[in-house]
Amino acid sequence: MARFQRHVFVCVNDRGPGHPRGDCASKGGHAVAEAFKKGLFERGFKRIVRPNKAQCLDQCELGCTVVVYPEAVWYGRVTAADVPEIIESHIVNGKPVARLVIPDDQLTGIEGPL
Ligand code: FES
Repeated sequence: MARFQRHVFVCVNDRGPGHPRGDCASKGGHAVAEAFKKGLFERGFKRIVRPNKAQCLDQCELGCTVVVYPEAVWYGRVTAADVPEIIESHIVNGKPVARLVIPDDQLTGIEGPL
């Protein structure tokens, strides 16, 4: 079984038109997911960094939402045009793209026991 160094989860959730929170599919989520898949493959990260399409990551207003694990860096308002920069800066060089990182105090969710 493959053990990946990182997972890149890209929200592609689609609620259909008119939902008050919106969704990432309507904000280019599928294009972002494809850009990660293509870009990571081209950079030689197959079986090392895994791009995964995800359902709602609960940051809908800030979509398209991407989260990179294990470091749990959350990105908001990501477009396909941003993906090469995320791959180069974060995945290759270990430096998250600050202009796209969602600050902790803007993340939806409750602190757990971990
Ligand atoms: S629809 Fe993408 S985070 Fe909720």
